[in-house]
Amino acid sequence: MQSTPPTDLADRVIVLTGATSGIGRRAAATLAERGATVAAVGRNRERGEALAAESDATAGRVRFHRADLATRSAVRDLAAELRESYARLDALAHNAGLSAGSRTETADGTELTLAVNHLAPYLLTRELFDRLAASAPARVVVTASDLHRRATLDFDDLQLADGYDPLDAYARSKLANVAFTLELADRIPDDAGVTANCLHPGFVPSTNLFRDAALRTRLAVRVAGLVPGVGTTRQAAADRLVRLVASPEYAERTGRYVGEEELTPADPATDPETRERLWTVSADLVGVDPDWP
Ligand SMILES: NC(=O)c1ccc[n+]([C@@H]2O[C@H](COP(=O)([O-])OP(=O)(O)OC[C@H]3O[C@@H](n4cnc5c(N)ncnc54)[C@H](OP(=O)(O)O)[C@@H]3O)[C@@H](O)[C@H]2O)c1
Repeated sequence: MQSTPPTDLADRVIVLTGATSGIGRRAAATLAERGATVAAVGRNRERGEALAAESDATAGRVRFHRADLATRSAVRDLAAELRESYARLDALAHNAGLSAGSRTETADGTELTLAVNHLAPYLLTRELFDRLAASAPARVVVTASDLHRRATLDFDDLQLADGYDPLDAYARSKLANVAFTLELADRIPDDAGVTANCLHPGFVPSTNLFRDAALRTRLAVRVAGLVPGVGTTRQAAADRLVRLVASPEYAERTGRYVGEEELTPADPATDPETRERLWTVSADLVGVDPDWP
């Protein structure tokens, strides 16, 4: 007989970006099965609405919020919609991500991978921080990647205008994810009751992450996914995210980078000067005062 999952998250409201595909889709379903209300953010309306409809059969529910996180105005509009829709927010999980195959600029004139993977989480956290703090204990969780280890943060060419390589751009955005999370964790006052942690979900070849990548990258990912023992399943990756969002183990721990176990992030992410500079540059790029939270 199949056992019913515990509905231990019945009173929680969890915002999850990138919920319409891959790791996020599994995480949204898992959280809803455990009773949570999931504010599922994604671009694709059809998949978002299908996910919400599936949650009718679960203890919790998924509400779909459509947003393309590439521009500042869309992130601000999403924040306003979420504030309007939910009186409390127990967790904000930034999982949306992409790997742009060629250098593309958003309507704001920002390189797309940096905009969606790093600047959107930066701005959305800032816009929702007071609601999280008012709902404390609350958590911010960021889906990073161990690929951050191959990146540098070159502040003279942060947006790779002088030569774009898709993997460099992606790895850099993931380094920014880790540096942002650790800096946020340090900046949040101890008594605020809000934690910030990030994760490496594993190598998950069965998602759509490299849908816009060069053919050779897509083939390499496809082939790697066929090798027995290589890669993590979507559910196992989602469980890593759910652990940071919901487990009592991470109720108070903050400033951690977690894979299957806790990992030491690459040096630039832990360097206080680099983190501070990234924070200020990011504030400038999204047009806010860096003096937060
Ligand atoms: N797969 C891996 O091996 C791996 C490894 C390490 C880290 N990660 C990270 O895991 C996270 C989830 O990726 P995944 O592998 O599950 O890939 P995925 O299947 O492609 O899912 C990506 C999600 O991000 C959303 N998204 C992309 N661009 C967006 C935009 N401009 N605005 C709003 N939402 C946007 C997508 O929405 P739509 O589908 O609605 O467009 C989708 O829900 C990413 O942050 C990724 O960097 C993945």
